[in-house]
Amino acid sequence: MICSKIEFHYITVLDTELLFQWQSNPKTRHYFRDPKAPTVEEHTHWLQQKLTDKNCVLLLAYDKGIPIGCLRFDFSNVEAEISIYVAPDLYGQGYGSRIISEGIEWIQMHHQQITTLKAIVLEENKPSINIFTKNEFIQSETKINNCLVLIRQC
Ligand SMILES: CC(C)(COP(=O)(O)OP(=O)(O)OC[C@H]1O[C@@H](n2cnc3c(N)ncnc32)[C@H](O)[C@@H]1OP(=O)(O)O)[C@@H](O)C(=O)NCCC(=O)NCCS
Repeated sequence: MICSKIEFHYITVLDTELLFQWQSNPKTRHYFRDPKAPTVEEHTHWLQQKLTDKNCVLLLAYDKGIPIGCLRFDFSNVEAEISIYVAPDLYGQGYGSRIISEGIEWIQMHHQQITTLKAIVLEENKPSINIFTKNEFIQSETKINNCLVLIRQC
């Protein structure tokens, strides 16, 4: 079976509404470190800041032209923190794991200075822990509040 590749496009202000819908969905927020949904104004302001932040890359993942999830990298020297959410209607179809896997290929190609990837995940967020460990992230000894820190060499 030939699987299509996920395509990554840089997020722009035109994606504000779609991201707001996904971000404010209770299914998405359930395991966010801040579970309170933002207002439209807060979200718009947050996105504008992120889009001008040179240490942040925001990508929209597409499968066969359909937007399926959002991937974010926050750079700190040679390390990048990776965050993900999948379109709430598409959970459990393998997209989370594929976005991480193909997102790692993307970062290896576009930001070769990055040597380490880090994910900070609430310890009860089993689906998220699952998709990172499937992609060779290892749980570090560090914990941040009630979050696990998962690390992978890039
Ligand atoms: C975490 C998230 C990205 C996973 O996306 P997804 O597309 O549903 O993930 P996948 O379908 O690739 O895989 C989910 C895995 O978790 C497993 N899983 C689901 N619920 C689970 C549970 N309660 N306990 C244990 N494993 C569970 C699934 O069985 C699957 O594993 P498998 O492929 O071995 O069967 C998605 O749930 C999401 O966007 N959540 C909200 C935002 C979030 O939590 N982001 C992570 C913070 S960085």
